[in-house]
Amino acid sequence: KPSAAPFVPAKHTLTVIREALPTCKGCDLYQHAIQVVPGRGANHAPLMLVGEQPGDQEDLQGLPFVGPAGNVLRKALAEVGIADGDIFMTNAVKHFKFVQRGKLRLHQNPRMSEITACKPWLLAELDAVKPKLVLCLGASAAKSLLGGTFGLMRDRGKVLSTPFAEHVMATIHPSAVLRAPNDEMRHTLYEHLRNDLLAAYQFAM
Ligand code: URA
Repeated sequence: KPSAAPFVPAKHTLTVIREALPTCKGCDLYQHAIQVVPGRGANHAPLMLVGEQPGDQEDLQGLPFVGPAGNVLRKALAEVGIADGDIFMTNAVKHFKFVQRGKLRLHQNPRMSEITACKPWLLAELDAVKPKLVLCLGASAAKSLLGGTFGLMRDRGKVLSTPFAEHVMATIHPSAVLRAPNDEMRHTLYEHLRNDLLAAYQFAM
């Protein structure tokens, strides 16, 4: 079974993790992505945000949440009053998965096997940051920490306990806001995201 475990160092500091990540061949995704994208943020942030995987922009820049979904997320964080120093942002999967369509690189959802393969990196980051609360953004991150049967729309916003982190919450992914079919849905989904960010922040602080 594919796993990042052989590539994850024993010492879990953010610096050591960041230096080891580019060596990872734990699954096949490293073959097509430009680079691995480590988590970024405050060293011992009380709140850790976990997205799905880097997108096109993140893969180009090597930084998480710097593309369109990141813009939605940062707008919501600012409106809620969450400062950069309070959060650490990372992804459940550390390489961009895509299909090439002409000049475009179209995002593909990671498989459960890829999420599982990459999980040792996420657990190492968790161990380094030791946040009070982990907020999973979207179904892929929720699958990693809350299991494959987690119902995002049913259980979003609830503080749950897991073997990997004592306090885990899930909410919608900021890209769901961008994909909403109409303005009303977009507004509703954005409100969900903002409300859950606020609840997570209040719990974590
Ligand atoms: N979407 C994610 O899930 N993560 C990123 O880093 C960017 C977009």
